[in-house]
Amino acid sequence: MKITVAGAGYVGLITSIGLAEMGQQVTCIDVQEEKIADLQQGKPSIYEPGLESLLQKNIRNGNLTFTVNPSQAYSGADIIFIAVGTPELPDGSADLKYIFVAAHTIAHHLNQDALICTKSTVPVGTNHLIHDIISGRIPPSIKIDVVSNPEFLREGAGLFDFFHGDRIVLGTDNPEAASIMEQLYLPLKIPIIKTDIKSAELIKYAANAFLAAKISFINEIANICEKVGANVDEVAYAIGQDKRIGSPFLQAGIGYGGSCFPKDTKALVQIAGNLEHPFELLEAVIKVNNRQHHLPVLKAKEIAGPLRGKKTAVLGLAFKPDTDDIREAASLTIIRELQLEGARIIAYDPAGVPNTRKIFGDSIKYTEDLKEALQDADLAIIATEWDQIKHAPLNIFTDYMKQPVIIDGRNCYSLSDIEKHGITYLSVGRPPVFASAAIQKPWKLFG
Ligand SMILES: NC(=O)c1ccc[n+]([C@@H]2O[C@H](COP(=O)([O-])OP(=O)(O)OC[C@H]3O[C@@H](n4cnc5c(N)ncnc54)[C@H](O)[C@@H]3O)[C@@H](O)[C@H]2O)c1
Repeated sequence: MKITVAGAGYVGLITSIGLAEMGQQVTCIDVQEEKIADLQQGKPSIYEPGLESLLQKNIRNGNLTFTVNPSQAYSGADIIFIAVGTPELPDGSADLKYIFVAAHTIAHHLNQDALICTKSTVPVGTNHLIHDIISGRIPPSIKIDVVSNPEFLREGAGLFDFFHGDRIVLGTDNPEAASIMEQLYLPLKIPIIKTDIKSAELIKYAANAFLAAKISFINEIANICEKVGANVDEVAYAIGQDKRIGSPFLQAGIGYGGSCFPKDTKALVQIAGNLEHPFELLEAVIKVNNRQHHLPVLKAKEIAGPLRGKKTAVLGLAFKPDTDDIREAASLTIIRELQLEGARIIAYDPAGVPNTRKIFGDSIKYTEDLKEALQDADLAIIATEWDQIKHAPLNIFTDYMKQPVIIDGRNCYSLSDIEKHGITYLSVGRPPVFASAAIQKPWKLFG
């Protein structure tokens, strides 16, 4: 079987490598020539643990090729995965232009029967549109089927999730198409859920909306904890022990980001709104999340006074650890607000610096060295819970900073460890720790 994957981003590249590793012949096509040239040389375009070695291995053994040539990619293809981006439009709905361009290109080059399998997150009805676009432009002798195969991978654990995901959803109106896809995925031994196309499309949005709701819920509990002097870690642990609730996604923090939750929640609000069904619960989830992104700088001003001229280390730029993806990351809001306050910013991240530089250019400083970020800093704001930050010895804050003041947006450290080190520390939903009595005065958020 010849498999083609359209899109060499996070989803397309991981899917291509995963399928090639399973022994399939995979061609991955992208419209970005530079990206494909790098991939042909075995240089990954994204940071994902374990990706580089599997990429190079599967190029070497001939299972995986990259191209920008649609004729090479689509002619003779048995299964074509669509994994192009579906970014958000200004009104929050999904922008489907990349999907439609891909569908037109496929139609132009398809020369045999094929399954078109959509991994991109798309609104209900899109797969039927893809079917209509392609089938309306190919000779009647060529037959296609569409399958909605939404992707659930977590960036930072993408390859692990390809091989060990919780479930594979196959939405199709044709049992034969479902059965071909089932055979393809069978070696993974991951439970397969077969549905109709529309249900599969909605499953992806519903899953992301539910996870986002869990995050905003615990963040609201954290905000209440701060007001009453409770500890959200203890509250979250105890409620998470209830099997009906479960502990994942109950870590309080400064809100979710990334390329999926923000855009998919907004898109689902739009989908519901277009059907004259206001999704009020999800609207509140989004509002709470936006508010969380603003908390670190509010807290920084409360604890440190005016930030003008103060050296502020922003620790963590990626929207989560183990990725270089900074799309909709809380760090971006923090940096923008710090700039408005006139702070001197140095941004630290093990993988996210190149992408962040594309946004802020030379207006801030960057480093991949934690100690350099902290050197003579007045303030540190933790935006991403990288291991390099979580497992750093706490004395680097006291040794390197002008004064050890941390606003921790990800609750990286235990309060007792912080107390032992004489650090002033404001985390999320937990009591503040003050290094000295003098600093308590301006702190107004706690009663
Ligand atoms: N990133 C994730 O963790 C994740 C998880 C689940 C689902 N998704 C969904 O998967 C889709 C892709 O997400 P992503 O993060 O991989 O996006 P991405 O932006 O990282 O990659 C998309 C790629 O598609 C390429 N592309 C655009 N038009 C093309 C065309 N006509 N032909 C070939 N390539 C084309 C782009 O150049 C880009 O390299 C989105 O719908 C997203 O919502 C993403």
